[in-house]
Amino acid sequence: MSITSNTRVQTGLETDLARRFPAQFLWGAATASYQIEGAVREDGRGPSIWDDFAATPGKVFQGHTGEVAADHYHRVEEDVALMAQLGLGAYRFSIAWPRILPEGRGTVNQAGLDFYDRLVDTLLAHGIQPFATLYHWDLPSPLQQVGGWVNRATAYAFAEYAEVVTRRLGDRVANWITLNEPWCSAYLGYGIGVHAPGLSDRQAAIDAAHHLLLAHGLAVPRMRAVLPSGAQVGITLLLNQIYGADERAETLRDMQLAYQFSNGWFLDPIYRARYPERFFEHLALNPPPIQAGDLEMIAAPLDFLGVNNYSRILIRGAQTQPLADRCEGVSPIPNSCYTDMGWEIYPHGLRDLLVSVARDYPVSKLYVTENGAAFPDVWDGGETVSDPRRLAYLHDYITACAEAIEQGAPLCGYFVWSLLDNFEWGEGYAKRFGIVYVDYPTQRRIIKESGHWYAALLHAFRNLQP
Ligand code: FCB
Repeated sequence: MSITSNTRVQTGLETDLARRFPAQFLWGAATASYQIEGAVREDGRGPSIWDDFAATPGKVFQGHTGEVAADHYHRVEEDVALMAQLGLGAYRFSIAWPRILPEGRGTVNQAGLDFYDRLVDTLLAHGIQPFATLYHWDLPSPLQQVGGWVNRATAYAFAEYAEVVTRRLGDRVANWITLNEPWCSAYLGYGIGVHAPGLSDRQAAIDAAHHLLLAHGLAVPRMRAVLPSGAQVGITLLLNQIYGADERAETLRDMQLAYQFSNGWFLDPIYRARYPERFFEHLALNPPPIQAGDLEMIAAPLDFLGVNNYSRILIRGAQTQPLADRCEGVSPIPNSCYTDMGWEIYPHGLRDLLVSVARDYPVSKLYVTENGAAFPDVWDGGETVSDPRRLAYLHDYITACAEAIEQGAPLCGYFVWSLLDNFEWGEGYAKRFGIVYVDYPTQRRIIKESGHWYAALLHAFRNLQP
């Protein structure tokens, strides 16, 4: 269901909004390797689980693949120039593990590293700070052939890979994100099979999640050993604020379960060195194979937490459904607006989330590393693309960020998802999240009205600084 947002943004008031952010605040946009790069067989890149998944009939909308995507691999200069035109202060991208280590471990493919080297230098030449994510879901296929994230050895392979990349780029990249949304890798990929590698085994999701967390915990000290002292290392989690539709006991109970499933599953091990209480029992599954010392490693101190947020979860308690189904929440919600993904637009959810995460966990710095909206944009061949609902969405969510800061959340930056329209995983190219439209047949980039508005906000912000 897709309903028009009821907010109408009055443009020209960007200065009022910009004024609510501290001088050092970073404004950026985010992408991920498999979603934009294309060039999947070039310069020694090996296959990833997403190449395999997309090649499997019936898995991705209309058989779309990342083979060409937004052709970013061949358009780095043009794309960075576009970022500069928008006035971005930072750019979050991900590094494709199979470009660096086509076998997953062992021989390093220098040409793969050269590509990111060039990207980083081009960003820095334009005064744009690189934020590098090491894993945004494109696991090298050879590692999946031996179990992928269900196999503990994958965590060690990741730590080796993390060290290889930080050795090469660490002199210029100051901000590092180990994993993007391990919840999605584990649950969507291994638990219900809607993402690569496409397994439907909830126990496998629990085990995979543990090995993803372990990969993160093993990588952090190895990265720090290589990185210069000022470098910042964090992780990005998909988090959702949980609300109750009523105050019945079942609802309160299910809110707690939904919290564990959606947020605590990853936040608790990372910040408290333990899984949420009775979590595996609630799911009627076994705990993962935790070895001595794992949880201490997973809880390695971090410099920041990256929060990805798009919507909220509204719970109406029920007696009988299994937990994972109950966590789907109430849908559709009367009087709510939805994006083209069917995700409810609820900006206060981001505000409340940032405030509560900072209250409940010892996070010193937060970044919104993804936030944005898909709408069915149409380009009429003109100079821009009209996308008033995305513009309103961004305006309202950025306002929510200002409110979170005013309520004490240590929010240091915001990255819109996404810079460009791109391969939206199981949805292929059917869902457009970009503030820049991509005309796939010609690969032409057209800045949408939301992109122009974002640029105006960033311009107003810069003008306020002494
Ligand atoms: C997030 C992913 C990102 C993108 C957005 C819409 O879960 O991290 O790659 O697909 O959703």
